[in-house]
This record gives sequence, C-alpha cells and structure tokens, in this order.
Amino acid sequence: MLFLLLLLASTGNCQVQYVPGQMKNDSCACEVNTNVWLFPAKKYEATLQQVESCDDSLKKLQEQVHRSKQRLPEIHEVVENITGRLEPYQYLHYKGLYSALSLRQLGEELDKLEADINAMSLQVNNDESTKLSKEVQKLRRDVDMMHMADSINMKTVKEKLRYLKNSVESCLSIPKDFKGQQRYCLKGLMMNISAPVITKVSPYGKNIISGSWGQQALADSEGLKNIFWIQPLLHGHLSGNTIRTYQSYEDFMASANHKDFTVALSNVHPNTVEGPSAVLYGEAVYYHCYDSPSICRYDFNNKAVTRVELPGIEKNYRKFPYCYFDCRANSDVDVEVDETGLWVIYATFGSHGNIVVSKLSWDSEAKILNITQTWETRLFKKAASNAFMSCGVLYATRFLDDYHEEVFYAFDTATGKEDNTLALRMEKIGKGVASLSYNPINRQLYMFNDGYLLAYQAHF
Ligand SMILES: *[C@@H]1O[C@H](CO)[C@@H](O)[C@H](O)[C@H]1NC(C)=O
Ligand SMILES: *[C@@H]1O[C@H](CO)[C@@H](O)[C@H](O)[C@H]1NC(C)=O
Ligand SMILES: *[C@@H]1O[C@H](CO)[C@@H](O)[C@H](O)[C@H]1NC(C)=O
Ligand SMILES: *[C@@H]1O[C@H](CO)[C@@H](O)[C@H](O)[C@H]1NC(C)=O
Repeated sequence: MLFLLLLLASTGNCQVQYVPGQMKNDSCACEVNTNVWLFPAKKYEATLQQVESCDDSLKKLQEQVHRSKQRLPEIHEVVENITGRLEPYQYLHYKGLYSALSLRQLGEELDKLEADINAMSLQVNNDESTKLSKEVQKLRRDVDMMHMADSINMKTVKEKLRYLKNSVESCLSIPKDFKGQQRYCLKGLMMNISAPVITKVSPYGKNIISGSWGQQALADSEGLKNIFWIQPLLHGHLSGNTIRTYQSYEDFMASANHKDFTVALSNVHPNTVEGPSAVLYGEAVYYHCYDSPSICRYDFNNKAVTRVELPGIEKNYRKFPYCYFDCRANSDVDVEVDETGLWVIYATFGSHGNIVVSKLSWDSEAKILNITQTWETRLFKKAASNAFMSCGVLYATRFLDDYHEEVFYAFDTATGKEDNTLALRMEKIGKGVASLSYNPINRQLYMFNDGYLLAYQAHF
C-alpha cells in the first residue's frame, strides 16, 4: 500500500497538517478535517453584506426606474386630460363666442345699431321705430350685464342683434315702396316653377360647365333691349373676360349673329369676371371682380369698369362658395337682380358663413357703385347649391338628385322673416348648377346647368 502525504496549510498562522491517503480505484483518497483552519468568516460576512446592500440599492434603483416608468404614462394621462378639458374652452376662444374681444365687438355692433336706429327715427317716426328703439335699449342692458357676469347666452344675444339689424334695414326701405310696384309681389312667396321653357346647349359647348346667362333685366334699357347674353368661364371654369350678346331670341336659339364684349385684358386681370356671378342690367354687366372682395360694373357704352368693395369680407372672398354636395369653385359672390334692383349674395366671417344679402346701387349721375343696405340670414351658404332674388325675397336651392333642384328656403328682406318649408322643384339636365338668376321683366329663372342653358317660368 502506498502512502501519500497531503500537505495543507491554513491561511492564518501557517499550521501544517499531515493527512494520510489511501489508494482506492486507482486514485488517492484522503479525508481532510476542515475545522482546523480559521475561515475569514468576518471578512466574508462583511463582503457578503456589502454585496447584499449593493443588491438592495440596486433593487431600489430598479424600483425607482420601474416606478417612474409607471408614473410617466400617468403624467401623460393627466396632461392629456387637462388638454382635453381645455379644448372646448379653446374652441370657444377661437370661435370668439365668449372672449372679452367678442364682447367688445358686440358692444361696437350695438353702438352702430343704436346710431342707425336714431338716424332712422329721424326719417321714419312710427310705432315700429319706437319699438325697435326699446328693444335695442333692452339689448344694451343685457350686454352691459354680460360685462359683469358671463351669465347670458351670447348666442341668443347675437341672434337678437341680427334680428334687430335686419329690422332696421327693412324699416329704412319701407318708405320707398320696397316690394316693388308689381302686384304679384304682394301676393307672397313664389308658388310654383314651371318645367324648362328654354333648353339649349351653350354656344360654347358642353365642356364649358360654368358661367352665367340670361336676358336683359331692366325694362326701359335702350340699345340693349331684350338682348340675350352669356358669360362663360373659359379659364378653368373659374374666370372669364368675355360677354356674348344676341339681339333676339331667334339669334340666341340659333347661336347666330352674336356680339362679343371683352371686359378685361386677360383671364386673370383685376377686371376679369370671377365665378358664375354675372348679371346684365341696363347698359352694364355686374359681377364679382377677379381675386378681390369687390363687385365690378362693366359699362357697354364707354367700356369703363367701376367697382365697390363688399363690407366685411376683406381677404376671405373664396371661403364660402355654394356647395351642398360638391362646391362650385369661385361661386362665393353672386350678383342678382329683381323688381327692386341689384343685389349681392355672399357670406362673411362675421355672419359665421351664413348668407348675407346686400343692396347694390348705381348712381348714374355721380358714376358711383355703392352697397347701401345689408341683411344677415340664418342659412349657411355652403348648405345651398345656389340662390336668387325675386320681389325683395332671397330664395335658395339645394341639390335633390341628378335631375332635380329644389327651392327650399326664402328670406324676405322686407320683414326679416324666413321660411324653410318651401319645396319648389326644378327639373334639370346636368348635375351641377353654376348659376341661377331671376329676371323681373318676364319672371323667368335662368340656370347655367353644366353645359346647358335652361329657363323656367316662375308663378306667384
Ligand atoms: C471504483 O470505480 C468503479 C467504477 O468507476 C465504481 O463503480 C466503484 O464504486 C469504485 N469503488 C470505490 C471503492 O470507490
Ligand atoms: C379627467 O379626469 C377626471 C377626473 O379624474 C374625469 O372625470 C374626466 O372624465 C377626465 N377627462 C378626460 C377628458 O379624460
Ligand atoms: C305647379 O305647376 C304644375 C304644372 O303646371 C302643376 O301641375 C302643379 O299643380 C302646380 N303646383 C301648384 C302648387 O300650384
Ligand atoms: C353709400 O351708401 C351709404 C349708405 O346709404 C352712404 O352712407 C354712403 O355715403 C354711400 N357712399 C357713396 C360713396 O355714395
């Protein structure tokens, strides 16, 4: 038997221990008593503690990271919640419904209204004007109260203001036989519209889908009596600079013997016709001037163009076209004519996009084009496919289907009253209606229906 010696040394005081080994299974085995050594337990424990505490702080750190990761979405949520709650207020702020600024504007509008009513009372002193004065005084008290507390519904006050403003405009016009001389105008709203009495493809062809057309609308107009006219928007269906006239119905129907007038040097000149807006009245054609908030008057005799700016639209003259399903490009400002003269139909930011209708007057002595009165309706302009004037009443149409249009709304400038229960159908050929105008001489309605020219008889 072979003895092997294992020399073991402890770390502490270098004690040596001899251990006998035994040969077993081709290897040497020996039993060692480990108790004899001094294990550096303290150091080990200290180290262990350090490791554990390090572990602890690591855990804490991890927890912190974990917690802040959890907090972050919470904070996000709070921010989102606050933003969400602020949104309605911001909306109101942007819309100017409750801000101090809109209160001030309201006050200014009221000041102007009071001045108008005082001026009117000097002209017309009757029960109606006294009643209006009283109503304005009451409104003034309401608005003064609003400055102290936001307690009154601003919308109601605005509606009241609109109503009163319209009443002042209507009162001012009553002395001048506002409804016109015609008896049929006194009968009330339009009752019926016939099937088309004229159906003709435009002389410019079916590809020119936008423009205006009609017949002389002023009875005692020398030279241009009874003439038919068409104003096509040859420039991308957006603008045009020519007016074509025909001396007779026969020439018009045969597209023969026309005479062309050029109102501007190009399709994008300041005097160019913008949108399907034109109407021929007397010795001139009136229309929306290209790329501007103004109305132009082109005189057939001296070829001069006179203009007047519309109130309250400034740079926003392409914001409120006629729409219904599809919008008609550049149909924002529409000149019309009826028994009482010229009108302009449009919309402003001040009217919140609702249709505004202004009286347009031409002073042939002073050669001045002017806007003299303005009414605000409650019909959003983009909810109407077109509109026209007749007997001082604004009528608006909507798209019914590809083959029908319907007059569904009326606003009477003589009373400020509106009616949205109308349902006067109009047959059409094309889907889109570029322009629709009334002629007070023969009470016909002229529609530029894509490439077709249609006329209807109106009944009262
Ligand atoms: C010797 O080795 C064999 C195989 O490796 C094993 O089965 C046996 O248990 C061992 N004997 C001893 C005494 O360790
Ligand atoms: C915001 O939080 C409040 C209270 O916790 C809750 O009632 C409200 O619905 C939240 N609003 C939004 C927009 O999340
Ligand atoms: C409208 O005119 C059509 C055709 O002339 C007629 O059938 C219809 O009864 C008229 N409607 C009214 C309300 O007068
Ligand atoms: C335009 O009409 C208004 C209102 O009737 C009037 O106050 C103003 O003086 C007119 N302007 C011109 C240039 O005639």
